[in-house]
Amino acid sequence: MTQPLTFVILSTGLDSFKEIRSALASDSRARLLAGGNDSEQLYDEIIRLKPNAAIITLGPNTEQALALMERLASECQQTAIIAGARDASPDLILRAMRAGAREFLRLPIISEELETVLDRISEFCSEVAPTPKKKGRMIAVFSSKGGCGTSFVASNLACAMPDSTCLVDLNLQAGDLPLFLGLDPKYSIADVVENRARLDDTLVASYITPYSSRVSLLAAPREADSADEIEPEHVFEVLERLRENYAYVVLDPQHTFDAITLAALDQSDDIVLTLTLDIPAIRSAQRALEIFDRLGYPRSKVRIIVNRWSKQIDLDLHQVEKFLGEPVVGFLPSDYQVAVTSINLGQPLVQSNPSTRIAAEIQRIAAAITGESIHMEEPKAERRNFWSALFRRERARKANAPALHVRESLNPSVSR
Ligand SMILES: Nc1ncnc2c1ncn2[C@@H]1O[C@H](COP(=O)(O)OP(=O)(O)OP(=O)(O)O)[C@@H](O)[C@H]1O
Ligand SMILES: [Mg+2]
Repeated sequence: MTQPLTFVILSTGLDSFKEIRSALASDSRARLLAGGNDSEQLYDEIIRLKPNAAIITLGPNTEQALALMERLASECQQTAIIAGARDASPDLILRAMRAGAREFLRLPIISEELETVLDRISEFCSEVAPTPKKKGRMIAVFSSKGGCGTSFVASNLACAMPDSTCLVDLNLQAGDLPLFLGLDPKYSIADVVENRARLDDTLVASYITPYSSRVSLLAAPREADSADEIEPEHVFEVLERLRENYAYVVLDPQHTFDAITLAALDQSDDIVLTLTLDIPAIRSAQRALEIFDRLGYPRSKVRIIVNRWSKQIDLDLHQVEKFLGEPVVGFLPSDYQVAVTSINLGQPLVQSNPSTRIAAEIQRIAAAITGESIHMEEPKAERRNFWSALFRRERARKANAPALHVRESLNPSVSR
């Protein structure tokens, strides 16, 4: 069903008002929102209701009505002005048009004329309809187990994105992303949340700490206390706002399925599920996938990557994929010295040392997210011992453990 055309009427004469009201009521497209004879009051109503059109009659009140038209024409451009009058003299029509009226409706109303006016208002509405706001792509780098390298990956991934990117630290109690970028932010997400009612582009930009011409950071609060005030719906609102200002928003959420993390994951277009190749991390990734399924996330939203991969690790990547039931789409080599040096210097490798294997792999993952396809290299020889241990533990877990419910998963202590 198409949107109704909404109207308000200003009429000093009760007869004219009733006549217009019943004419509008006879057309299924029209809906009357308000009416009256006080131009000041009606002006306030128009500001509040933002109708598609205001029908303003010209009678004994002509000067006052023309003044209202002029005011509406300059201040409420989304509302079309229709002048209505019994006196359809060329002089009055001209004055009404000069005051900003788009249409002239003769009284008493002729139904064909009203039909034509409604058609024109309908055209006007489609012309002034606001264009939908652009929405940047949101990518959460997530692990339900700490220490897998999500902050390291998120900060590098943000630097690998091809367009304007905001990195957001959602570890609200103890965020450390400024260190990864060598920044000392003055403001944090707590300031954005506090001022969310009056956020415009300039204010958003003032709370964000620039790292490079393309990458900026929205830091976690310095004081853990201010994090307590932040609710999931605030985070949702702030992230939606950021998407309007940046082509990409990269999130580093907490490692639990708390309400704020869930709000962020729900909103994300992609979840880069990060694990390391040890049994606790693989188990935790598998549990995260189960929870994503229960939350109704399509599997296409999740991209699994392995961090700190090394040839020395005694396992077969095919087996990891089989165990998780999903392909691993990227793996970052383990290079402690390179990783720690870049973190200590506060310089993401993608920019400071792009020739490293870690940086190259991050670039490849970024390309996959932004549109290019990637291929995994075949893993090397199969190592049975590791896998038999993992599957053995998994069989034992399934036999003994009760099913994990989503409610339980919302409790951080269960999801860890
Ligand atoms: N590819 C890698 N090779 C070697 N070391 C790495 C690699 N990636 C991350 N690390 C190291 O792992 C440590 C933890 O990384 P990071 O802080 O990014 O993890 P996290 O998942 O964010 O942890 P936290 O639980 O603190 O949020 C860092 O000290 C970093 O040097
Ligand atoms: Mg971290």
